[in-house]
Amino acid sequence: MKKSLLEQAKNVLDNNFQLGGFTIPSKGLYPFQWKWDSGFISIGYAHYDIDKAKKEITSILSAQWKNGFIPHIVFHNESDTYFPGPEVHMSHLSPNCPKEIKSSGITQPPVFGFVLEKIYEIVDDKDNFLNFIKEVIDKVYKNHLYFYKNRDIYNEGLVYIYHNWESGTDNSPIWDGIWEKIDCPEYQFERKDTTHVDPSQRPSKREYDHYINLIEIAKKFNYDDKAIAENSPFLVQDPLFNSILIKSNESLINLYKIIGNEEKKIEILTQFQRKSIEGINNKLFDNKLGSYVYYDLRNKEKISLISSSSFSPLFCGAPDKSLSKKLIETLVEKFGDENKYLCASFDTTSDKFNPKKYWRGPIWVNLNWIIYLGLKRYNETKLAERIKKDTIDLVSNLGFYEYFEPFKNKKMKGYGGNNFSWTAALCIDLINEKQ
Ligand code: SER
Repeated sequence: MKKSLLEQAKNVLDNNFQLGGFTIPSKGLYPFQWKWDSGFISIGYAHYDIDKAKKEITSILSAQWKNGFIPHIVFHNESDTYFPGPEVHMSHLSPNCPKEIKSSGITQPPVFGFVLEKIYEIVDDKDNFLNFIKEVIDKVYKNHLYFYKNRDIYNEGLVYIYHNWESGTDNSPIWDGIWEKIDCPEYQFERKDTTHVDPSQRPSKREYDHYINLIEIAKKFNYDDKAIAENSPFLVQDPLFNSILIKSNESLINLYKIIGNEEKKIEILTQFQRKSIEGINNKLFDNKLGSYVYYDLRNKEKISLISSSSFSPLFCGAPDKSLSKKLIETLVEKFGDENKYLCASFDTTSDKFNPKKYWRGPIWVNLNWIIYLGLKRYNETKLAERIKKDTIDLVSNLGFYEYFEPFKNKKMKGYGGNNFSWTAALCIDLINEKQ
C-alpha cells in the first residue's frame, strides 16, 4: 500500500537526519546544516519527534559566534559534494568565530524566535518544551541584539544583508541591477551544485562569480560588520528578512512573557518592534506597485520589483488594513490567476520571470507557508486555503522537491533537490494543522 503523504514526509526528514544530531536539506546538493532550513525542519519534527526538533535547534545554536551572529552554514561534518566549503568561507578570519566552529561568515533570516513559539503551540507537553525554551531563548535574543546593533546602520529599524545568500532567495531577479553596477572578476572554481541538478535550474556562472566576490570582499575585512557596511557593494534591506525578524521579535516577547521576570528584554524587543514596523511600512512599501519592495542601501534606491518576499510582511502583522488590502490585491493580480499554482517566487508578468530557475519564478514551500500564515492572520481565509491546498497538491502530485513550476499543466515538474527537508517538514505542519 502506498504510504500517506504524512508518512512519506516523515521518511524524508528521518533519512536526512545525521548522526551528528542535525538534518541536511538534501543529499549531495546540500550536505551540511543550514540556518533557516534547520528552523523549518524543527517545526516538522515537532509533530512527531520532539527530541529531534530540540537537537536540530541545539546544533545550529551551538555554532553561534561570540557577538551573537549565527552563520548560514555550519560545517559539522566533512563533504566534498558542495561548493563553496569551509576553505572558501574561512570564518576564522573573524575574531568573533569560536576556534572549534567551522562555518560560513554570512547569515540567513532569523527564524528561531517564531520557530520556538510555533513548536510551543504544536506540542502537548508545554512544560517540557518551555524548559527547553528557557535553555536556548537567550541565544536567540542575542542574535536579535546582534542584528540591531550591527546591521541597522541608520537606526531605521531595518537591518541590511550584505550577500544575496543571506536573503535565502539566492538568484532572485531583484539582484540583477546590483550585479550590473559591480566590477567583479571572473573566478576559476569547480561548482558542485550543477553536478547534482540540471544547470538550467540553478544560478549562472556569472552569478556565482558575484557570490564569491562578495565573500572575498567580506574576508578582506575579516568579516567585520562595520567595514563591510562601509565597503561592500551589496547592501540591501530585504522585506522577507526584516519580516522574519519582526515576527521573531513578537514571538520572543510572547515567550518571555510566559517565562516571566524578563521585563528588561521585553522592553528592548518592544522598542525594536515598534521601530521595525514603522520602518518597513514607511520605507519598503511602494505605493505605486501596491507592494513591499527591497531597498538598495548602497546605491540608495528602491528596487521596484515584486517577488514572493513582497508578501511576507503579512506574516509579521506589519501592514495596517489599507496596506494589507492593497498588498493582497497585488498578490491576486500578479500571482493569482487560475492557470497557476500559488505562489510563484517572482512576478509572473515580468520578462525576468523564469518558471524553472531556482528563485527566479518557481514556487517554494517555505514562502508558501509564510504567506499562508500571513493571509490567515489577516482573515483572508479563502486565499489562505487556496495556497495551502496548492502546496499540498504540488507535493503529493510531484514529490518532495526543492521548488516547483507554477503553471498548471500535465508536464509540470518539481525541480532542484529531491527529498528536500523543509518541503517535507512544512507539509507535515500543514497536514497536521489544528484548525
Ligand atoms: N542556497 C545556497 C546554495 O545553493 C547556499 O546558501 O548553495
